[in-house]
Amino acid sequence: MARITASVYTSHVPAIGAALDLGKNEEPYWKKVFGGYDFSKQWMKDNKPDVVFLVFNDHATAFSLEMIPTFAIGTAAEYQPADEGYGARPVPTVIGHPELASHIAQSVIQDDFDLTIVNRMDVDHGLTVPLSLMCGQQGPKDGAWPCPVIPFAVNVVQYPVPSGRRCFALGQAIRRAVESFDEPLNVHIWGTGGMSHQLQGPRAGLINREWDNRFLDRLIDEPAALAQVPHIEYVREAGSEGIELVMWLIARGAMADCSSAAGAKPRVAHRFYHVPASNTAVGHLILEEN
Ligand code: DHB
Ligand code: FE
Repeated sequence: MARITASVYTSHVPAIGAALDLGKNEEPYWKKVFGGYDFSKQWMKDNKPDVVFLVFNDHATAFSLEMIPTFAIGTAAEYQPADEGYGARPVPTVIGHPELASHIAQSVIQDDFDLTIVNRMDVDHGLTVPLSLMCGQQGPKDGAWPCPVIPFAVNVVQYPVPSGRRCFALGQAIRRAVESFDEPLNVHIWGTGGMSHQLQGPRAGLINREWDNRFLDRLIDEPAALAQVPHIEYVREAGSEGIELVMWLIARGAMADCSSAAGAKPRVAHRFYHVPASNTAVGHLILEEN
């Protein structure tokens, strides 16, 4: 059977992708950000998954106001990096895992979660920046990401967006789905986006270190209680784009201690927090199953 062995959480700031693509990662401003991922890149090599289930949000790139799926699972064989206005990032095509993705869609939909099935989608910085941070810059020519990726897009851009509670329960359903796939795959689940940031309006530039760090503490120690936090608290405390953090609850809900079998708490392999990167607080965690 397939198993989830770890979860990874990271911000996805688009300027991080630009800094990498333009070779600015040695500049002092960016060095402090990338330094937080040195451990993670080695960890990815030492703990190479067979598949990454990558929870991210599309930023009106693949989806527009014409169609807004709340939860969308990528079942395609591959996904191209999107052109977000400056040309596509020079990073490899993302290879999918149609068999596992289709199985998860089947299982999760039968488990009462409505998913949109996506057979074609370009992936924006929400997906490619976390991959670059965790896997290092892989040029398009030398290039391949270390393993197949199942993109799972969550609407956190256009209200109404799903609650943290629903995201957490969805993570639990994804674990059940993975564990019923009849192949011995090692699966990592990633929750991306956040931490506190607001990109527009009178509070543009808002960062809340204290709230972010409390979120990290609670994500580790009391995820079910954290999942009860209402939207208004994210928006008030972490800014309008801080709502991206509900996606972290999908990954956390998929860990053993959140399942009905009440498994062991995960081990914190790595924790990092840094302000600022562009307009955003960068948070990052790696949790390993015990
Ligand atoms: C920024 C952060 C985001 O999450 C995003 O999607 C776009 C921009 C920023 O910090 O500038
Ligand atoms: Fe974003």
